[in-house]
Amino acid sequence: MISVFGSKVGEEEIAEIRTSIENQWIGMGPKTKLFESRFAERLGLKSFVMLNSGSNSLHLALKLLDLPNGSEVVLPSFTWISCASAIIQSGCKPVFCDVDLDTQNVTYQTIEPRITEKTKAIMAVHYGGKPVKMEEIMAFGLPIIEDAAHAVDSKIGNKYCGSIGDIGIYSFDGVKNLAIGEAGGITSGNEEYMEKARKLRYCGIEKSGFEASVTKNRWWEYNVVDFFMKMIPDDISASIGLAQLEKLDKNQIYRKHIWDLYQEEFSGLSWLDIPENAGKEEQHSYFTYLIRLKNDKRDELAKYLYDKGIYTTLRYQPLHMIPIYNSTDLKLKNSEILNEVGLNIPLHPNMSKSDVEYVIETIKEFGKEYKL
Ligand SMILES: Cc1ncc(COP(=O)(O)O)c(C=O)c1O
Repeated sequence: MISVFGSKVGEEEIAEIRTSIENQWIGMGPKTKLFESRFAERLGLKSFVMLNSGSNSLHLALKLLDLPNGSEVVLPSFTWISCASAIIQSGCKPVFCDVDLDTQNVTYQTIEPRITEKTKAIMAVHYGGKPVKMEEIMAFGLPIIEDAAHAVDSKIGNKYCGSIGDIGIYSFDGVKNLAIGEAGGITSGNEEYMEKARKLRYCGIEKSGFEASVTKNRWWEYNVVDFFMKMIPDDISASIGLAQLEKLDKNQIYRKHIWDLYQEEFSGLSWLDIPENAGKEEQHSYFTYLIRLKNDKRDELAKYLYDKGIYTTLRYQPLHMIPIYNSTDLKLKNSEILNEVGLNIPLHPNMSKSDVEYVIETIKEFGKEYKL
Protein backbone atom coordinates (compact mmCIF):
# COMPACT_ATOMS: atom_id res chain seq x y z
CA MET A 1 0.00 0.00 0.00
CA ILE A 2 1.36 3.44 -0.87
CA SER A 3 0.80 5.56 2.22
CA VAL A 4 -0.65 9.05 2.01
CA PHE A 5 1.85 10.63 4.40
CA GLY A 6 5.33 9.44 5.22
CA SER A 7 8.89 10.23 6.17
CA LYS A 8 12.31 8.92 5.30
CA VAL A 9 14.59 7.88 8.13
CA GLY A 10 17.70 5.74 7.99
CA GLU A 11 21.34 5.38 8.94
CA GLU A 12 21.86 9.07 9.71
CA GLU A 13 19.13 9.01 12.37
CA ILE A 14 20.51 5.77 13.82
CA ALA A 15 24.01 7.29 14.01
CA GLU A 16 22.71 10.33 15.91
CA ILE A 17 20.70 8.19 18.31
CA ARG A 18 23.73 5.96 18.83
CA THR A 19 25.82 8.84 20.14
CA SER A 20 23.13 9.73 22.69
CA ILE A 21 22.98 6.12 23.84
CA GLU A 22 26.76 5.89 24.02
CA ASN A 23 26.79 9.07 26.11
CA GLN A 24 24.17 7.49 28.39
CA TRP A 25 22.03 10.60 28.01
CA ILE A 26 18.63 9.90 26.47
CA GLY A 27 16.45 12.43 28.29
CA MET A 28 16.40 16.16 27.56
CA GLY A 29 20.01 17.28 27.29
CA PRO A 30 22.72 18.45 24.91
CA LYS A 31 21.09 17.12 21.74
CA THR A 32 17.89 18.96 22.56
CA LYS A 33 19.84 22.18 22.99
CA LEU A 34 21.69 21.60 19.74
CA PHE A 35 18.50 20.84 17.84
CA GLU A 36 16.90 24.00 19.22
CA SER A 37 19.77 26.18 18.08
CA ARG A 38 20.11 24.54 14.64
CA PHE A 39 16.37 24.69 14.01
CA ALA A 40 16.27 28.35 15.04
CA GLU A 41 19.25 29.08 12.81
CA ARG A 42 17.71 27.34 9.81
CA LEU A 43 14.48 29.35 10.07
CA GLY A 44 16.08 32.57 11.26
CA LEU A 45 14.09 32.41 14.51
CA LYS A 46 15.09 34.63 17.39
CA SER A 47 14.45 31.75 19.73
CA PHE A 48 12.95 28.26 19.67
CA VAL A 49 11.85 25.89 22.43
CA MET A 50 11.46 22.22 21.57
CA LEU A 51 8.51 20.33 23.08
CA ASN A 52 7.15 16.82 22.90
CA SER A 53 4.41 17.54 20.32
CA GLY A 54 2.81 20.14 18.13
CA SER A 55 -0.42 19.70 20.09
CA ASN A 56 1.30 20.56 23.36
CA SER A 57 2.95 23.51 21.65
CA LEU A 58 -0.55 24.86 21.01
CA HIS A 59 -1.47 24.37 24.67
CA LEU A 60 1.64 26.26 25.69
CA ALA A 61 0.95 29.04 23.16
CA LEU A 62 -2.49 29.60 24.68
CA LYS A 63 -1.03 29.53 28.18
CA LEU A 64 1.49 32.21 27.19
CA LEU A 65 -1.18 34.48 25.74
CA ASP A 66 -2.91 34.29 29.14
CA LEU A 67 -6.31 35.36 27.82
CA PRO A 68 -9.18 36.12 30.21
CA ASN A 69 -11.47 33.17 30.88
CA GLY A 70 -14.22 32.89 28.27
CA SER A 71 -12.30 34.80 25.59
CA GLU A 72 -13.13 33.79 22.05
CA VAL A 73 -10.38 32.56 19.77
CA VAL A 74 -11.16 32.33 16.06
CA LEU A 75 -9.74 29.32 14.24
CA PRO A 76 -10.50 27.44 11.04
CA SER A 77 -12.99 24.61 11.32
CA PHE A 78 -10.90 22.81 8.69
CA THR A 79 -8.07 21.86 11.04
CA TRP A 80 -6.81 19.30 13.51
CA ILE A 81 -8.65 18.78 16.81
CA SER A 82 -5.67 19.85 18.94
CA CYS A 83 -6.22 23.44 17.80
CA ALA A 84 -9.67 23.52 19.41
CA SER A 85 -8.66 21.42 22.43
CA ALA A 86 -5.86 23.82 23.32
CA ILE A 87 -8.28 26.75 23.21
CA ILE A 88 -10.88 24.96 25.35
CA GLN A 89 -8.37 23.73 27.90
CA SER A 90 -7.02 27.24 28.36
CA GLY A 91 -10.51 28.33 29.45
CA CYS A 92 -11.34 30.05 26.16
CA LYS A 93 -13.96 29.36 23.51
CA PRO A 94 -13.11 28.14 20.02
CA VAL A 95 -15.02 30.10 17.37
CA PHE A 96 -14.84 28.31 14.06
CA CYS A 97 -14.49 30.19 10.80
CA ASP A 98 -14.51 29.10 7.18
CA VAL A 99 -11.53 28.77 4.85
CA ASP A 100 -10.92 29.78 1.28
CA LEU A 101 -11.89 26.90 -1.02
CA ASP A 102 -8.75 27.08 -3.17
CA THR A 103 -6.10 27.49 -0.44
CA GLN A 104 -7.91 25.84 2.50
CA ASN A 105 -6.62 28.78 4.54
CA VAL A 106 -8.35 31.41 6.65
CA THR A 107 -8.60 34.86 5.07
CA TYR A 108 -9.70 38.29 6.23
CA GLN A 109 -13.12 37.57 4.70
CA THR A 110 -13.61 34.22 6.44
CA ILE A 111 -12.50 35.52 9.84
CA GLU A 112 -14.30 38.85 9.86
CA PRO A 113 -17.89 37.56 10.31
CA ARG A 114 -16.79 35.58 13.37
CA ILE A 115 -15.18 38.47 15.25
CA THR A 116 -17.07 39.77 18.29
CA GLU A 117 -16.12 42.00 21.19
CA LYS A 118 -15.07 38.85 23.04
CA THR A 119 -12.54 37.84 20.36
CA LYS A 120 -9.11 37.99 21.92
CA ALA A 121 -6.95 36.02 19.48
CA ILE A 122 -6.77 34.29 16.11
CA MET A 123 -5.26 30.90 15.39
CA ALA A 124 -4.13 30.69 11.77
CA VAL A 125 -3.20 27.34 10.20
CA HIS A 126 -0.95 27.32 7.12
CA TYR A 127 -2.81 24.43 5.52
CA GLY A 128 -0.58 21.94 3.75
CA GLY A 129 2.24 24.45 3.89
CA LYS A 130 0.54 27.14 1.80
CA PRO A 131 1.11 30.38 3.71
CA VAL A 132 -1.90 32.22 5.11
CA LYS A 133 -1.99 35.85 3.95
CA MET A 134 -0.67 37.05 7.29
CA GLU A 135 -0.68 40.76 6.50
CA GLU A 136 -4.42 40.63 5.84
CA ILE A 137 -5.26 38.98 9.14
CA MET A 138 -2.81 41.03 11.17
CA ALA A 139 -5.06 43.97 10.26
CA PHE A 140 -7.52 42.78 12.95
CA GLY A 141 -4.98 43.91 15.51
CA LEU A 142 -5.43 40.73 17.58
CA PRO A 143 -2.71 38.39 18.84
CA ILE A 144 -2.09 35.63 16.31
CA ILE A 145 -0.96 32.08 16.98
CA GLU A 146 0.46 30.68 13.77
CA ASP A 147 0.02 26.94 13.48
CA ALA A 148 2.92 26.04 11.21
CA ALA A 149 2.55 22.29 11.82
CA HIS A 150 2.55 21.79 8.03
CA ALA A 151 4.74 24.73 7.21
CA VAL A 152 8.26 24.16 8.47
CA ASP A 153 9.71 25.28 5.13
CA SER A 154 7.10 27.91 4.22
CA LYS A 155 7.92 31.56 3.86
CA ILE A 156 6.34 34.89 3.12
CA GLY A 157 9.03 37.14 1.72
CA ASN A 158 12.11 36.34 3.75
CA LYS A 159 10.21 35.33 6.90
CA TYR A 160 9.46 31.75 7.75
CA CYS A 161 5.89 30.89 8.70
CA GLY A 162 5.65 30.59 12.45
CA SER A 163 7.80 33.66 12.97
CA ILE A 164 5.36 36.25 11.61
CA GLY A 165 2.56 36.24 14.20
CA ASP A 166 2.89 36.63 17.98
CA ILE A 167 3.58 32.95 18.62
CA GLY A 168 4.28 30.14 16.16
CA ILE A 169 4.17 26.39 16.64
CA TYR A 170 5.63 23.47 14.67
CA SER A 171 4.92 19.75 14.65
CA PHE A 172 7.54 17.09 14.05
CA ASP A 173 5.30 14.05 14.30
CA GLY A 174 6.24 10.95 12.36
CA VAL A 175 4.90 12.13 9.01
CA LYS A 176 5.68 15.82 9.03
CA ASN A 177 8.26 17.42 6.70
CA LEU A 178 10.74 17.27 9.55
CA ALA A 179 9.75 13.93 11.04
CA ILE A 180 10.82 12.92 14.52
CA GLY A 181 8.05 10.68 15.81
CA GLU A 182 6.47 12.77 18.52
CA ALA A 183 7.84 16.28 18.91
CA GLY A 184 7.12 19.91 18.20
CA GLY A 185 8.10 23.33 19.36
CA ILE A 186 7.26 26.94 19.84
CA THR A 187 8.74 30.26 18.76
CA SER A 188 8.05 33.91 19.42
CA GLY A 189 9.76 37.21 18.86
CA ASN A 190 8.71 38.06 22.42
CA GLU A 191 11.63 36.91 24.58
CA GLU A 192 9.50 37.08 27.73
CA TYR A 193 7.21 34.43 26.26
CA MET A 194 10.17 32.27 25.36
CA GLU A 195 11.71 32.51 28.80
CA LYS A 196 8.38 31.50 30.27
CA ALA A 197 8.02 28.67 27.76
CA ARG A 198 11.34 27.18 28.92
CA LYS A 199 10.04 27.05 32.49
CA LEU A 200 6.49 26.01 31.75
CA ARG A 201 7.49 23.03 29.62
CA TYR A 202 8.89 21.28 32.71
CA CYS A 203 5.92 21.59 35.08
CA GLY A 204 6.63 25.29 35.68
CA ILE A 205 9.98 24.68 37.36
CA GLU A 206 12.08 27.83 37.25
CA LYS A 207 15.36 26.08 36.43
CA SER A 208 15.41 22.55 35.19
CA GLY A 209 17.29 19.88 33.30
CA PHE A 210 20.31 21.14 31.43
CA GLU A 211 19.47 24.73 32.40
CA ALA A 212 19.89 23.98 36.09
CA SER A 213 23.21 24.89 37.60
CA VAL A 214 24.76 24.66 41.02
CA THR A 215 24.21 28.18 42.23
CA LYS A 216 23.67 27.58 45.89
CA ASN A 217 24.37 25.00 48.55
CA ARG A 218 21.15 23.04 48.13
CA TRP A 219 21.22 22.92 44.32
CA TRP A 220 18.49 20.26 44.25
CA GLU A 221 15.90 22.72 45.45
CA TYR A 222 13.77 24.47 42.91
CA ASN A 223 11.22 27.19 42.63
CA VAL A 224 7.93 26.66 40.78
CA VAL A 225 6.73 29.72 38.85
CA ASP A 226 3.42 28.42 37.47
CA PHE A 227 1.22 25.31 37.28
CA PHE A 228 1.66 23.49 34.04
CA MET A 229 2.11 20.14 32.36
CA LYS A 230 5.30 18.30 31.57
CA MET A 231 5.99 18.65 27.86
CA ILE A 232 9.73 18.39 27.57
CA PRO A 233 11.29 16.52 24.64
CA ASP A 234 14.19 14.05 24.91
CA ASP A 235 17.58 13.60 23.29
CA ILE A 236 16.51 10.56 21.27
CA SER A 237 13.88 12.71 19.54
CA ALA A 238 16.34 15.57 19.20
CA SER A 239 18.85 13.17 17.62
CA ILE A 240 16.33 12.19 14.96
CA GLY A 241 15.56 15.88 14.51
CA LEU A 242 19.21 16.75 13.94
CA ALA A 243 19.51 14.10 11.22
CA GLN A 244 16.21 15.18 9.66
CA LEU A 245 17.32 18.81 9.59
CA GLU A 246 20.30 17.80 7.45
CA LYS A 247 17.92 16.10 5.01
CA LEU A 248 15.26 18.77 4.96
CA ASP A 249 16.49 20.60 1.84
CA LYS A 250 16.77 17.39 -0.16
CA ASN A 251 13.37 16.16 1.02
CA GLN A 252 11.79 19.49 0.18
CA ILE A 253 13.17 19.35 -3.35
CA TYR A 254 11.65 15.90 -3.80
CA ARG A 255 8.31 16.99 -2.30
CA LYS A 256 8.23 19.93 -4.74
CA HIS A 257 9.10 17.59 -7.62
CA ILE A 258 6.10 15.36 -6.80
CA TRP A 259 3.86 18.41 -6.34
CA ASP A 260 4.92 19.89 -9.70
CA LEU A 261 4.36 16.57 -11.48
CA TYR A 262 0.87 16.28 -9.97
CA GLN A 263 0.10 19.87 -10.95
CA GLU A 264 1.18 19.20 -14.53
CA GLU A 265 -0.54 15.84 -14.89
CA PHE A 266 -3.80 16.73 -13.16
CA SER A 267 -4.30 20.23 -14.53
CA GLY A 268 -5.70 18.68 -17.70
CA LEU A 269 -8.33 16.62 -15.89
CA SER A 270 -11.62 18.49 -16.19
CA TRP A 271 -13.21 16.55 -13.32
CA LEU A 272 -10.96 17.71 -10.51
CA ASP A 273 -9.49 20.88 -9.05
CA ILE A 274 -5.85 20.99 -8.07
CA PRO A 275 -4.43 22.92 -5.09
CA GLU A 276 -3.07 26.43 -5.41
CA ASN A 277 0.65 26.92 -5.92
CA ALA A 278 2.71 29.22 -3.72
CA GLY A 279 2.06 32.83 -4.71
CA LYS A 280 4.64 35.48 -5.51
CA GLU A 281 6.75 36.15 -2.42
CA GLU A 282 5.64 32.83 -0.93
CA GLN A 283 7.40 29.52 -0.35
CA HIS A 284 5.33 26.36 0.10
CA SER A 285 6.19 23.32 2.23
CA TYR A 286 4.30 20.76 0.08
CA PHE A 287 3.20 18.82 3.14
CA THR A 288 0.11 17.39 1.48
CA TYR A 289 -1.66 17.46 -1.90
CA LEU A 290 -5.42 17.96 -1.72
CA ILE A 291 -7.49 17.38 -4.85
CA ARG A 292 -11.13 18.41 -5.06
CA LEU A 293 -13.56 16.50 -7.23
CA LYS A 294 -16.03 18.49 -9.28
CA ASN A 295 -18.62 15.72 -8.94
CA ASP A 296 -19.93 13.40 -6.24
CA LYS A 297 -17.39 10.65 -6.89
CA ARG A 298 -14.87 11.44 -4.12
CA ASP A 299 -15.72 8.41 -1.98
CA GLU A 300 -15.67 6.17 -5.05
CA LEU A 301 -12.26 7.48 -6.05
CA ALA A 302 -10.92 6.86 -2.52
CA LYS A 303 -12.20 3.27 -2.61
CA TYR A 304 -10.91 2.71 -6.16
CA LEU A 305 -7.43 3.89 -5.14
CA TYR A 306 -7.52 1.85 -1.94
CA ASP A 307 -8.37 -1.30 -3.89
CA LYS A 308 -5.37 -0.61 -6.11
CA GLY A 309 -2.98 -0.16 -3.20
CA ILE A 310 -3.07 3.62 -2.82
CA TYR A 311 -4.11 5.01 0.55
CA THR A 312 -5.78 8.42 0.67
CA THR A 313 -7.52 10.43 3.38
CA LEU A 314 -9.21 13.72 4.10
CA ARG A 315 -7.54 16.17 6.41
CA TYR A 316 -9.69 17.53 7.96
CA GLN A 317 -13.18 16.64 8.95
CA PRO A 318 -14.51 20.14 9.75
CA LEU A 319 -14.57 20.54 13.53
CA HIS A 320 -17.87 22.44 13.63
CA MET A 321 -19.57 19.31 12.27
CA ILE A 322 -18.38 17.17 15.21
CA PRO A 323 -21.08 17.31 17.92
CA ILE A 324 -18.81 17.79 20.93
CA TYR A 325 -18.01 21.36 19.87
CA ASN A 326 -21.68 22.42 20.01
CA SER A 327 -21.41 24.16 16.66
CA THR A 328 -23.33 21.84 14.34
CA ASP A 329 -25.85 24.63 13.58
CA LEU A 330 -23.07 26.71 12.10
CA LYS A 331 -22.87 26.83 8.28
CA LEU A 332 -19.35 27.08 6.93
CA LYS A 333 -19.86 26.57 3.24
CA ASN A 334 -16.34 25.94 1.98
CA SER A 335 -15.34 23.68 4.85
CA GLU A 336 -18.48 21.63 4.23
CA ILE A 337 -17.73 21.47 0.50
CA LEU A 338 -14.20 20.28 1.26
CA ASN A 339 -15.66 17.62 3.50
CA GLU A 340 -17.54 16.23 0.48
CA VAL A 341 -15.08 16.69 -2.37
CA GLY A 342 -11.58 16.88 -0.86
CA LEU A 343 -9.08 14.03 -0.94
CA ASN A 344 -5.43 14.06 0.15
CA ILE A 345 -3.37 11.84 -2.13
CA PRO A 346 0.12 10.48 -1.36
CA LEU A 347 2.98 12.98 -1.31
CA HIS A 348 6.06 12.31 0.78
CA PRO A 349 9.78 11.61 0.49
CA ASN A 350 9.37 7.88 0.97
CA MET A 351 7.56 7.49 -2.37
CA SER A 352 9.57 6.05 -5.20
CA LYS A 353 9.37 7.63 -8.66
CA SER A 354 7.30 4.63 -9.80
CA ASP A 355 4.91 5.12 -6.83
CA VAL A 356 4.32 8.67 -8.01
CA GLU A 357 3.75 7.55 -11.61
CA TYR A 358 1.40 4.82 -10.41
CA VAL A 359 -0.69 7.33 -8.41
CA ILE A 360 -0.96 9.58 -11.46
CA GLU A 361 -1.89 6.73 -13.83
CA THR A 362 -4.43 5.23 -11.45
CA ILE A 363 -6.22 8.55 -10.92
CA LYS A 364 -6.35 9.08 -14.70
CA GLU A 365 -7.66 5.52 -15.16
CA PHE A 366 -10.47 6.26 -12.70
CA GLY A 367 -11.51 9.25 -14.82
CA LYS A 368 -11.57 7.08 -17.95
CA GLU A 369 -13.43 4.18 -16.31
CA TYR A 370 -16.07 6.50 -14.89
CA LYS A 371 -16.22 8.51 -18.17
CA LEU A 372 -15.55 11.79 -16.36
C1 LIG B 1 -2.64 21.74 11.76
C2 LIG B 1 -2.09 20.92 12.86
N1 LIG B 1 -1.85 21.50 14.04
C3 LIG B 1 -1.35 20.80 15.08
C4 LIG B 1 -1.06 19.47 14.98
C5 LIG B 1 -0.56 18.71 16.16
O1 LIG B 1 0.74 18.26 16.00
P1 LIG B 1 1.25 16.93 16.77
O2 LIG B 1 0.76 15.76 15.99
O3 LIG B 1 2.74 17.06 16.71
O4 LIG B 1 0.73 16.97 18.13
C6 LIG B 1 -1.29 18.82 13.76
C7 LIG B 1 -1.00 17.39 13.61
O5 LIG B 1 -1.16 16.80 12.59
C8 LIG B 1 -1.81 19.56 12.69
O6 LIG B 1 -2.07 18.98 11.52
